[in-house]
Amino acid sequence: MKRTRTPEGSSYTPRSAMPDYLIRHATLRQLQVFEAIVRLGSFTRAAEELFLTQPTVSMQIRKLTDAIGLPLFEHVGRNVEPTEAGLELYDACRSMFESLANLEMKVSDLKGLKRGRLRMGVVTTAKYLAPDILGGFSKLYPGIDLALKVTNRESIIERMLANVDDLYIMGEAPEGDIEIESHTFALNPLVVMAARNHPLVGRKNIPLSDIAKEPFIVREPGSGIRDVTFRTFDAKGLRPNVRMELGSNEAIKHAIAAGLGLSVLSLHTLSLEGTEGAVAVLDVEGFPILRHWNLVYPKGKELSLVARTFLEFAIGNEPNIRKRVQKMWPALKHLLKEEKKGPARKKKASPKK
Ligand code: PGA
Repeated sequence: MKRTRTPEGSSYTPRSAMPDYLIRHATLRQLQVFEAIVRLGSFTRAAEELFLTQPTVSMQIRKLTDAIGLPLFEHVGRNVEPTEAGLELYDACRSMFESLANLEMKVSDLKGLKRGRLRMGVVTTAKYLAPDILGGFSKLYPGIDLALKVTNRESIIERMLANVDDLYIMGEAPEGDIEIESHTFALNPLVVMAARNHPLVGRKNIPLSDIAKEPFIVREPGSGIRDVTFRTFDAKGLRPNVRMELGSNEAIKHAIAAGLGLSVLSLHTLSLEGTEGAVAVLDVEGFPILRHWNLVYPKGKELSLVARTFLEFAIGNEPNIRKRVQKMWPALKHLLKEEKKGPARKKKASPKK
């Protein structure tokens, strides 16, 4: 940016570089709403993400359209798409928000760890783990504001591509979509669950082909666990007998307990009630799938001091998480010892895309 010296020696930006008209007529909030609609491809999803009502979102866009003086969206079939002016504005928003996020990070680094903000995006299933770690972090650094977005794997990848959060927790780092830095930090065993009174409970080494015959419940498309589940059946030339699709781990646990079917879920989903409750863990060949949680961020992203400190804190927390998971399901200890002896089981159990 070109700066000129004033007689007093301080620097200033020539007025001609200021977008006066937009400064008077548009607001950052309107631009934030607009950016979210284009990024998420929908007014409804933008309203959800920003915790606004639909009429508020529409009103903000009407005002922004007036300020720009050209339509920002057009209807293409049942979808809304940005117009040419909308696309130009989107590019401007992205670079402006990038600069502001950078500024926020630098200012927060100047304040040290006394003040600041950590924005985390975590996959649905990590909600059983993230609050605990954030709780410990918050005790150490009470001045840091925490924001936690919980959504499925597909939406987390979208958020990462748009550089929305500081750090992400995922069950499996994304491949292909984006170059990333990934730090493995805790165990995430996936197990087959059934109602406590199901006839398969207590049977040893149940063949996956027997599981494939049972009514099965799966997470919604876009879920990481759904992908791994289908890949695991696929690797054996099998298909689960899907009876129901549900968008939440809690809903799936209730459906299992109600006898509606079996499902593959993370052991972490039982962290409150344990494995002796209404939902039981089955002993199935190839299970548990010994996955790990990963702390992920886009390659080249400059992490704030707060984010770097959290990363180290979370990695240092691994032994506690491992202990908690083993306490919940003692059979795991033995399996982990076996895994240490030879990695073959892990490789076989977690086929890649
Ligand atoms: P999900 O992801 O909650 O979107 O299924 C969890 C995982 O990938 O382990």
